[in-house]
Amino acid sequence: MPAIVLIGAQWGDEGKGKATDLLGSRVDYVVKFNGGNNAGHTVVVGDKKYALHLLPSGILTPGVTPVIANGVVVDVEVLFHELEALGSRGVDVSRLLVSANAHVITAYHRTIDKVTERFLGKRQIGTTGRGIGPAYADKINRVGIRIQDLFDEGILRQKVEGALDLKNHILVKVYNRRAIEAEQVVDDLLSYTERLRPMVADTSLVLDRALRDGKTVLFEGGQATMLDVDHGTYPFVTSSNATSGGAATGSGVAPNRIDRVIAVVKAYTTRVGAGPFPTELFDESGEYLRSKGFEFGTTTGRPRRTGWYDAPIARYTARINGVTDFVLTKLDVLTGLPTIPVCVAYEVDGVRVDEVPVSQSDFHHAVPVYEEFEGWTEDITGVRTFDELPAAAQRYVLALEEMSGSRISAIGVGPGRDAIVTRHDLLE
Ligand code: IMP
Repeated sequence: MPAIVLIGAQWGDEGKGKATDLLGSRVDYVVKFNGGNNAGHTVVVGDKKYALHLLPSGILTPGVTPVIANGVVVDVEVLFHELEALGSRGVDVSRLLVSANAHVITAYHRTIDKVTERFLGKRQIGTTGRGIGPAYADKINRVGIRIQDLFDEGILRQKVEGALDLKNHILVKVYNRRAIEAEQVVDDLLSYTERLRPMVADTSLVLDRALRDGKTVLFEGGQATMLDVDHGTYPFVTSSNATSGGAATGSGVAPNRIDRVIAVVKAYTTRVGAGPFPTELFDESGEYLRSKGFEFGTTTGRPRRTGWYDAPIARYTARINGVTDFVLTKLDVLTGLPTIPVCVAYEVDGVRVDEVPVSQSDFHHAVPVYEEFEGWTEDITGVRTFDELPAAAQRYVLALEEMSGSRISAIGVGPGRDAIVTRHDLLE
């Protein structure tokens, strides 16, 4: 029965793997519903480490059916690269399903992503350069290529030529680049058709049947709430809906089928790329969080920007997504700090505001109002129950829970898969 949505509460990289691990063997389907290979998670299984960018993490769990749903943009080359890498290490990848309606990232999307960023100069978004934005732009502009188009050569050629018509003018005349040959793009895509064929499905129908059969379906959101194209810090966002609503539109499973929404939130905050970040630190505390929390991007290797926990953002996330449970990660990174500041509100032009401001300029000007919490020095990485946590760590967690608008059901206390303190069952 249960359909569970798992999303990031901040700007990504919250450690969604911790929550996935908690649900573990109880999940039958893992669905990626937004984004593409801009995501990055390192999954450790036994003594092996896997870096996945496009494939849902469920691909590594025996018995789970991983699904790439219609809301995803698929770089087919990357898809096969990841599948081959896993296959050669003995991972069974045969159950993967890909929606016929998912859009395809082509060579021209990657090129346009990179040249546009360069052109923007100081105003750049800091994208991952994987062609995500341009592929979604084509989808909305109704000139996108879908997975199903790869099975009709005539249609594919027509669509690629149509899409490149204007793009080549822009590439040559505005960006001073070479035109992209439609024929080359078509040939590249067609080279994957036969391998793709057995995976392609009407995934909305498959998931509907699975839910009717009482299976557990986990919708794994890529990126995070504050990077959502509608509800994030626009324009410094990704180009898809990373919030829980995206699970419905991005998979074709109706919103009233969803039972639980789990948000993963870090015990502090990080962000990659440009855009507002009120609690960002530029001093040695920021450096401390970066090195102790190993805050470097999985996809691009970029150092992440770091800052203190922002409670208005957590509250905002709880509201926008209908969060039923938070999973708080990386609490152990804070061990050893004498005091831990938490942003409880903002001051905007001298006025205190308790909610994330709707105006972009106000959010840019938001100055955090901090409350200081007492730190702890005890190593908590071996702790497995809430009562065993040092009293100051308990107070920190309870304060975040009260401020953030939903229960904190689990707490990550270390890098290991089992380094989790569970307070409430995520499915009850
Ligand atoms: P894009 O998704 O490549 O278009 O990049 C848009 C913004 O989202 C940039 O600021 C990226 O750094 C950010 N972003 C995209 N994917 C992730 C992710 O998985 N974690 C964190 N930030 C991301």
